[in-house]
Amino acid sequence: MTRTAIIGGHGKIALLLARSLTDAGHLAVGVIRNPAHADEVRAAGAVPVVLDIETASAEELASALAAVSSDGDGAVDAVVFAAGAGGGSGAARKETVDHQGSVKSIAAARQSGIRRFVQISYIGADQADTSGDESFGAYQKAKKAADDALRASDLDWTIVRPGHLNDDAATGRVRIGDDVTSGSTSRANTAAVIAALLEGPVALGGVLNVIDGDTPIAEALASLD
Ligand SMILES: NC(=O)c1ccc[n+]([C@@H]2O[C@H](COP(=O)([O-])OP(=O)(O)OC[C@H]3O[C@@H](n4cnc5c(N)ncnc54)[C@H](OP(=O)(O)O)[C@@H]3O)[C@@H](O)[C@H]2O)c1
Repeated sequence: MTRTAIIGGHGKIALLLARSLTDAGHLAVGVIRNPAHADEVRAAGAVPVVLDIETASAEELASALAAVSSDGDGAVDAVVFAAGAGGGSGAARKETVDHQGSVKSIAAARQSGIRRFVQISYIGADQADTSGDESFGAYQKAKKAADDALRASDLDWTIVRPGHLNDDAATGRVRIGDDVTSGSTSRANTAAVIAALLEGPVALGGVLNVIDGDTPIAEALASLD
């Protein structure tokens, strides 16, 4: 059984991932900022932990994860960064959630001895053009900085980069590769890719551009270098 802490545990991808992990017999912990979301997180099978990654420190996040472990479920062994300030937020929250929230999560994982870290980014994060819309520019800058921080870490990381997200049902079939530069990705397929990554030491140090496609997820991951 794996034990995964999902930062931003009430997000759409996060809830789908929690359901997928717990259905497979794993433990999921949903780190949420709003206690009113706890029941929805429980309904997805996860253990809710209330902690706001904008106001909490990395040490507080590490302590919160340790507290879950000491409740008898065993130590958390993976972190998925699925939080995001969202489309309606301004530039400041892109920095405090999308960038600094990730940096704190990386630090908390390292402090806790958690090696596996999967981060949700987006296709094109390395080619960010921050000259356009201020809010989107801030998002691009924050996501690239978060990905750079994870790449610079000594964790067993994987960066998952979906295209334009949609709410279609999971097909379990995707296209993954450096040649994938645009497209649409269901949140359900994104969650399924992350769940598969957490099953084993797959794509460590990999940046995966993922869109909906024709190849079964296991096959797509197995074909990576
Ligand atoms: N939109 C796209 O087309 C697109 C494309 C590629 C990648 N992405 C990335 O994919 C990520 C996940 O997508 P999604 O649809 O699952 O996003 P989502 O539903 O907006 O989930 C993001 C979660 O982050 C949580 N959050 C925000 N601030 C927080 C804080 N201070 N502390 C703890 N949690 C906090 C939110 O909590 P609340 O529920 O309390 O607000 C929300 O539940 C996005 O954040 C984005 O970076 C998006």
